[in-house]
Amino acid sequence: MMITAKSLTKNFGNFTAVDHIDLNVHQGECFGLLGPNGAGKSTFISMTYGTVQRSGGELLVFGHDPKTHSRDIKKRLGVVTQDNALDESLTVLENMLIYSSFIGIPRHERKKRVLDLLDYMNLTHKKDTKIITLSGGMKRRLVFVRALLGQPELLILDEPTTGLDPAIRHLLWGKVKELHQQGTSIVLTTHYMHEAEVLCDRLVIMNNGKISAEGSPRDMIHKHTPGYIGIFPLEDREKIHKLTSQINSFKVHEDSSGIYLRAATLEELTSLHSQHGMNPLQIRPSNLEDVFLKLTGQELSDDA
Ligand SMILES: Nc1ncnc2c1ncn2[C@@H]1O[C@H](COP(=O)(O)OP(=O)(O)OP(=O)(O)O)[C@@H](O)[C@H]1O
Ligand SMILES: [Mg+2]
Repeated sequence: MMITAKSLTKNFGNFTAVDHIDLNVHQGECFGLLGPNGAGKSTFISMTYGTVQRSGGELLVFGHDPKTHSRDIKKRLGVVTQDNALDESLTVLENMLIYSSFIGIPRHERKKRVLDLLDYMNLTHKKDTKIITLSGGMKRRLVFVRALLGQPELLILDEPTTGLDPAIRHLLWGKVKELHQQGTSIVLTTHYMHEAEVLCDRLVIMNNGKISAEGSPRDMIHKHTPGYIGIFPLEDREKIHKLTSQINSFKVHEDSSGIYLRAATLEELTSLHSQHGMNPLQIRPSNLEDVFLKLTGQELSDDA
């Protein structure tokens, strides 16, 4: 087991950020930790490598307690922290060499390991550039380099692709998949539900410090929001409300982009077009974003 948490709790004063959570991260899996802003994801992550001390419960990383063995844990762990925390006044190479010595890589191996990883993250051309001049996407890739320098067994990624353009995001997904296939265990937090669907074998949804659901992305969709979503223009509101009071199999939710109807089958949605002349803006299978919205409180309610 990579991580075992039992009734793990963190209080800041009288505020409970992580509230009696139980979870296991198995060797070799990519485990997702999802939840709205403030759910407690980063606090959980900080407890695993010992920068935040737990208030209660049990926590083991590689079988060690981070309270007493954070040094042993850090050697085997790579972290892409939510904030980059790079020394911006140094060059890329200088910064990574200093970090290499800091984590105990033998002197004669440092430069090669840094250069190999810069190449892996497509940053070789920036090695003598000051970090302050790098773009956001380059800094993020550099933080990946830093996380990988110690050849970690467990890689923790706290919102690794937030704010990155789609091309860089896809590049990083490819790298994460490659590392996963090579056997690295991964813990990932993200606000991009598609990212979690693409990368995670298993995930939990956290809300207000508690875990509210757990499963593979596919199982969670199947369990919590099965079927298809049709998004209709807001002008169709009255028609829809008339219809849904007759056909109670639809779940309805409305936001500024349209009215969302969920039905068990595609036919139920397409028949709204053929039988009632309603033109959906989009029809799609339900996805993890629908599950997330439902479980964190902005659900497609049953009583619309
Ligand atoms: N050092 C601290 N002192 C007091 N409160 C804190 C501290 N660190 C975190 N919190 C609070 O704990 C809660 C959980 O924060 P945390 O950063 O773990 O959330 P998160 O799930 O990572 O959110 P985000 O998605 O925005 O990164 C928040 O309400 C936050 O304000
Ligand atoms: Mg966070």
